[in-house]
Amino acid sequence: MASDHLVCVVLAAGKGTRMKSRRPKVLHEVAGRSMLGHVLDSLQALEPARIVVVVGPDMPETAAAAAPHPCVVQREQLGTGHAVLTAAEALADIDEDGGVLVVFGDTPLITVATLRRLVAARAARPVPALVALAFRAADPAPYGRMLLDDSGRLTGVVEAVDADAAQRRIGLCNAGVMLAGRRCLFDLLAKVGNDNAKGEYYLPDVYRLAYQAGLHGVVVEASEAEVQGVNTQAELALVEAEMQTRLRAAAMAEGVTLIDPAAVWFSHDTRLAPGVVVEPNVIFGRGVEVGEGARILGFSHLEGARLGPGATVGPFARLRPGAEVGEGAKVGNFVEMKQATLGPGAKANHLTYLGDTEVGAAANIGAGTIVCNYDGFSKSRTEIGEGAFIGSNTALVAPLKVGKGAIVAAGSTITRNVPDDALVIERTEQDNRQGAAKRYRELKRRAGKAGKGSK
Ligand code: UD1
Ligand code: CA
Repeated sequence: MASDHLVCVVLAAGKGTRMKSRRPKVLHEVAGRSMLGHVLDSLQALEPARIVVVVGPDMPETAAAAAPHPCVVQREQLGTGHAVLTAAEALADIDEDGGVLVVFGDTPLITVATLRRLVAARAARPVPALVALAFRAADPAPYGRMLLDDSGRLTGVVEAVDADAAQRRIGLCNAGVMLAGRRCLFDLLAKVGNDNAKGEYYLPDVYRLAYQAGLHGVVVEASEAEVQGVNTQAELALVEAEMQTRLRAAAMAEGVTLIDPAAVWFSHDTRLAPGVVVEPNVIFGRGVEVGEGARILGFSHLEGARLGPGATVGPFARLRPGAEVGEGAKVGNFVEMKQATLGPGAKANHLTYLGDTEVGAAANIGAGTIVCNYDGFSKSRTEIGEGAFIGSNTALVAPLKVGKGAIVAAGSTITRNVPDDALVIERTEQDNRQGAAKRYRELKRRAGKAGKGSK
């Protein structure tokens, strides 16, 4: 009888040499999250009793990314079957009839829906000993092929390098994902040898051993896009493109308008409310949340930012972590915000830097306002009160408070706090020298210089 226990094993011991990168392969990111993170997140949705990650030696970053899930170290990469065996001890206390779901850490597009179909297949009666995930490949050349007998039963998998001509014509391929009872899986794995072209212990060999032992294996199919593995930078880009397609479709299904979906880049965790409009060439980094009806205009870059309902950002805005744009507030072109809040209805429309700053409701930040929050050693805060008006080309030297309703005259460098409702002006007095420009030109002309100014 099957138990409702489920445990998962994620294979991530491969170095991924073909990535030509110093980072372990599974830590390369797709939509702002590591491939391993995507896989773990999808597995988590199944609420398994445990997820064990198989890592290679000297992969502390992979183990850190797997945390709090336990890792086991596969000292030598002797094949996928050997990798799963490495996890045997870490699962020894689990119900022997419980299911072990094996997935690859470099296959981040696998969906929860497909994983659930595997679990459902194992809930059938009689309980299948093994459930295999397969797909029809446009080009099956690199993959293990599923071998079926005349009645459609799975008799084994042959790896591409071991396949004969007839087997190479089979289009149904092994995705690598497997679900099997714990005892059955480890008993079969103990019998897997390495007498094959690669000299490796192949996990899919258990299908043949199961068939020979009269055990029952079933095949579940998924689309090729979902089981696309990543071995090279080019494949990483393909997987990124597929993930972006999904994220765009999900946003539009929620009522978000993407004028040109292909020109908007999402993070896995981007949250856009219905009625949000996003113009082309917008990039969402991690941790962005946007309220209903907000508009994000072209060429804006947002990360770790929150936008209230009806806010407008861009074009050409940069919102860095900790940027908060209040309801109906406006952030215009060439404005950068970091750890900064714009109150409801406040505006910073042009050429401004707001860092470590709080701007009150309905305040107006003029063009070219710069908050000087860093003195080369530490960061300081600036507070701008409700309804304040900051004139253009103002430098606000933090720490600083500008009171509610205060007006700062254009071109000022403000270093001391400004009281509520005060008008502050800090610049040298204007000196109009009558006729001086004309006299200057004449002087130059007599000296033989051909100026371009008026006569
Ligand atoms: C595997 C399957 C193949 C299937 C294909 C689908 C085997 C023998 N072959 O081939 O049938 O069509 O996936 O993409 O399983 N790993 C370890 N330790 C090892 C070896 C591999 O942890 O000793 C990990 C890798 O890091 C990777 C995963 O297992 O995440 C798959 O290994 P890989 O070598 O890429 O298998 P394929 O040759 O692609
Ligand atoms: Ca692979």
